[in-house]
Amino acid sequence: MIIVAGGTGTLGARLVPCLAGAGLPVRVLTRDPARARHLAGHAVEVACGDVRDPGSLTAALQGAGTVISAMHGFARPGRVSPATVDRAGNANLIGAAARAGADFVLVSVVGAAPAHPIGLFRAKHAAEQTLRASGIGWTIVRATAFMETWATIMSQMLEASGKIVVFGRGDNPVNFVSAGDVAALIARAVTDPGLRGQVLEIGGPDNLTFNQVAAIVQGTAGRRGTVRHIPRPALCAMAWLTAAIKPHLARQARAALVMDTLDMTFDPAPARRAFPGLPNTDMAAAIRELLA
Ligand SMILES: NC(=O)c1ccc[n+]([C@@H]2O[C@H](COP(=O)([O-])OP(=O)(O)OC[C@H]3O[C@@H](n4cnc5c(N)ncnc54)[C@H](OP(=O)(O)O)[C@@H]3O)[C@@H](O)[C@H]2O)c1
Repeated sequence: MIIVAGGTGTLGARLVPCLAGAGLPVRVLTRDPARARHLAGHAVEVACGDVRDPGSLTAALQGAGTVISAMHGFARPGRVSPATVDRAGNANLIGAAARAGADFVLVSVVGAAPAHPIGLFRAKHAAEQTLRASGIGWTIVRATAFMETWATIMSQMLEASGKIVVFGRGDNPVNFVSAGDVAALIARAVTDPGLRGQVLEIGGPDNLTFNQVAAIVQGTAGRRGTVRHIPRPALCAMAWLTAAIKPHLARQARAALVMDTLDMTFDPAPARRAFPGLPNTDMAAAIRELLA
């Protein structure tokens, strides 16, 4: 049985059908089974659990052969955060996988490091370290930014208001990968025991600025609208003003500043050479699929 924590998310909604379509039994771990209802069916079970609550994981992981962590606590309000979900929650999930005798596939981020300016990247690094020290069979899949996440945000803004808001100057190149391509690599990691003990890094074909992504969204949607920029000083002010009352907004403002200034480019060639059969979706194709 393959357990997918995060099976209801952008990546998970592509990963679960990919695994089930290959004839593998899958159980989606979610805090709210209603969110997974559309995924349930032949070969897909749903279990209720929250990685912040270790007691909820024992039954959910019963019979597990592999556990996949495809979750994060970056953008939600409340007690959901990189510290509670990505750091402590992954540690709980790794502990439960060890007790169940299962292997573990951790979805992390390209650039995960102990001193990274984005807290999520530090928490992912901590989870990677916990997994490596756990003694169970492991594979880490690090991905760049998901095309679908950002294209969805921009398409929805364009649809709702005729405007796309770009955080900062929007002229810093960032590597974007399709969540569908990442799902295909994770499926390989699950089924190939030869990939245990390895860190696999995946990116997409292009490094694009947010201004370029906005232009591709406009072109693919066939609607120009306008592009508005939130200046960097306004992002600094937003991070500072919301830190105590809405920490998830502060996290997003700080991350936007980093994505507008830090080198976020990536060379996808090594992973593509190692896994030649993987899909290599570009931004326009990912947006066309979303709009369809
Ligand atoms: N989005 C990106 O640009 C990007 C880039 C690189 C790597 N990644 C990584 O890829 C993975 C998937 O990201 P995504 O963007 O597809 O996620 P997403 O769409 O934002 O969905 C988040 C998922 O996390 C689960 N989750 C959150 N808190 C949880 C908790 N306490 N217990 C159990 N599950 C919890 C949610 O499940 P329920 O709500 O159903 O409980 C949901 O399925 C994550 O590991 C992320 O860090 C994402």
